[in-house]
Amino acid sequence: MAAPSIPALSAHGAEIPAIGFGTSALGDCGEIVATALKLGYRHIDTAWKYGTERGVAQGMRASGVPRSEIFLTTKVSHEFLRADDFARSVDESLKNLGVDFVDLLLVHWPNPQIPLSDPMPALARAKRQGLTRHIGVANFNIAMLDEAIRLCPEPLVNLQAEYHAHLDQTKLTEACRRRGLIFTAYCPLGRGRLLRDPVLAEIAARKGRTLAQIALRWLVQQGNIIPIPRSSNAGRMAENLGVFDFALTEEEMTRIAALKRPDGRIADPAGRAPAWD
Ligand SMILES: NC(=O)c1ccc[n+]([C@@H]2O[C@H](COP(=O)([O-])OP(=O)(O)OC[C@H]3O[C@@H](n4cnc5c(N)ncnc54)[C@H](OP(=O)(O)O)[C@@H]3O)[C@@H](O)[C@H]2O)c1
Repeated sequence: MAAPSIPALSAHGAEIPAIGFGTSALGDCGEIVATALKLGYRHIDTAWKYGTERGVAQGMRASGVPRSEIFLTTKVSHEFLRADDFARSVDESLKNLGVDFVDLLLVHWPNPQIPLSDPMPALARAKRQGLTRHIGVANFNIAMLDEAIRLCPEPLVNLQAEYHAHLDQTKLTEACRRRGLIFTAYCPLGRGRLLRDPVLAEIAARKGRTLAQIALRWLVQQGNIIPIPRSSNAGRMAENLGVFDFALTEEEMTRIAALKRPDGRIADPAGRAPAWD
């Protein structure tokens, strides 16, 4: 079967494939990542914290897909945001991944104990040293994003945060749009919770698509959003790629947006999570 063609989104010179493959909680994921790449994924999301960087390296090698065709993201964990720790963490990630540079390097979470004046220049330095092609942040609120932009001498291209139909992210996605950043949506399937939603199920049945495809299409159709679903199953990985050959109507988009709920947020670690917008 021919791999589906995946569009790209651009921001400040970065060209990012419009869907990515998430790798958290996949453990020793070499075979899974190789399968994802063979199926057509060209954007892989990992992090030092996930312990999956070595698996991603194995998967990239085993897939036969050239490094130049893969958009690779990793992240520096909140405990390593002081300048020296930051640089060490980047080096360790590159070693784990078996690459000279990544395509996108993110601050994984803010750390209330460490001012942003530490990691933001360190992030820019990593870019200037050629250790990453692009930079961004994850799990920042709008005020932190603005402070990060102010403190960083290189442009941020991306903000990664939780986003799916049960979580209202209107303010943050709009803030990214206005600042020219691409928004990467993590937990795009609500870690499976969305798959029980009756409205999504009804729209999926009407359109002859799967519920996961409807949930992911709702994100990609917003324009500056890149979902990064994770799956350990080849059939579901392929299914999740099939979101670029159909469209939701305006009415369907609005109905899905109305599924937001006050308890929709999944990732909210005490002591690390900012005051969300
Ligand atoms: N920056 C951050 O702080 C942060 C935080 C959380 C996540 N992330 C990133 O975002 C990625 C995605 O988030 P996530 O892994 O938490 O959750 P997710 O992608 O929303 O959901 C993953 C779950 O959905 C299931 N699934 C996937 N495709 C499916 C389909 N087509 N039909 C039915 N079930 C399906 C998977 O099960 P099977 O494996 O059985 O298919 C898995 O249990 C992560 O892997 C990670 O890379 C980043």
